[in-house]
Amino acid sequence: MANLKDCDPAIYSLIKDELDRQQSGLELIASENFVSEAVLEAQGSVLTNKYAEGLPGKRYYGGCEFVDGVERLAIERVKKLFNAPHANVQPHSGAQANTAVLFAMLNPGDTILGMALDQGGHLTHGSPVSLSGKWFKAVSYGVNAQDGRVDFDGLLRLAVEHKPRLIICGASNYPRILDFALFRQIADEVGAYLMADIAHIAGMVATGLHPNPFPHAHFVTTTTHKTLRGPRGGVVMCQAEFAPAIDKAVFPGTQGGPLMHVIAAKAVAFHEALQPEFALYQKRIFENARQLAQTLIEQGLAIVSGGTDNHLMTVDLRPINMTGKTACEILESVRITTNKNTIPNDPQKPHIASGIRIGTPAVTTRGLGASDMKIVAQCIADKLKNPEDSSTHERVLKTVSDVCHKYPLYSQRLVPAK
Ligand SMILES: Cc1ncc(COP(=O)(O)O)c(C=O)c1O
Repeated sequence: MANLKDCDPAIYSLIKDELDRQQSGLELIASENFVSEAVLEAQGSVLTNKYAEGLPGKRYYGGCEFVDGVERLAIERVKKLFNAPHANVQPHSGAQANTAVLFAMLNPGDTILGMALDQGGHLTHGSPVSLSGKWFKAVSYGVNAQDGRVDFDGLLRLAVEHKPRLIICGASNYPRILDFALFRQIADEVGAYLMADIAHIAGMVATGLHPNPFPHAHFVTTTTHKTLRGPRGGVVMCQAEFAPAIDKAVFPGTQGGPLMHVIAAKAVAFHEALQPEFALYQKRIFENARQLAQTLIEQGLAIVSGGTDNHLMTVDLRPINMTGKTACEILESVRITTNKNTIPNDPQKPHIASGIRIGTPAVTTRGLGASDMKIVAQCIADKLKNPEDSSTHERVLKTVSDVCHKYPLYSQRLVPAK
């Protein structure tokens, strides 16, 4: 069989360019990470060839004895990581995992209560542009203007008024600890189910650096590719009584055949996350985020909520009269990758936004530590405060390049040489 370079030089070359981009820049998108070579190997395996609709031991296809073993291991490991009574590792993504819970437990038109997108929530928590907001009556809670923390009084008021069938907690852009017990108390007061979406903080939950939503939540969903450092994908976990409904909602409810190569890669990532070094890695992500936030503040930049208790933060750019879109482009010109993000009660539309979200999982994987984060924060502040200055531009580019060389990422053999 021809290898990729000979068979499809165009795709080969684009993959090589992307590898070069990842190696030669600082990746600060809070939802991204770099998987291990073992995870890449599992995902690039022959398991992609296999159809395996159903669950281990109960498939609709023959020849599943080995993929059954793979999926059983993935389930066993993820249950151990999160102390979960039940897990389904088939969701193709975080959005699919959330959709499975909605499909399993609700009827169209039922009310859900989730965090608003501009306050830090995810599209699948009731945004009007997603299925969650189109097919359900979505009500949204937010954060307090003063401290950027969940407004539990407002949440309780909305829950009592709207009697949601499901309350969703968890976020895409929230830098503080989530009090799952309090969410559950409110859910119980109004007879709602509680779903915790821990897509962002999964690695910290798995290592005890963030409280576990179990046993409080009825359902826990996550992505596998953020702090958890696995392949792109999702998982849905739940209390034992909901297991049959959740499994049926994933397949045949909302998906077809599982991606067995991805499930194998998830299993490898879960194995890695169960090792003692993973806890040290998560602690470093957290320390790096703290240091980054502190140095940015010292450099005169405003951070939403005044700091961070996890892996991410949002810079409020209004004091320097810049939009998130512009800041993101300016930083990209010096090979620092972030994403524009709305801040609570943002006056700008989401595609412009007043903030940039910054996270430390990927640079921590690369090996950067707290002293490097001071340098990175200095680069960000210098460039944002002097966007037109060419000597600043050259200096920051050189510093970014030096840091990237100091902490190499992957070896070229990831893209076959021949
Ligand atoms: C909290 C949260 N839930 C769900 C998702 C959706 O994950 P995916 O992009 O894999 O569908 C995200 C993605 O950013 C997220 O941040």
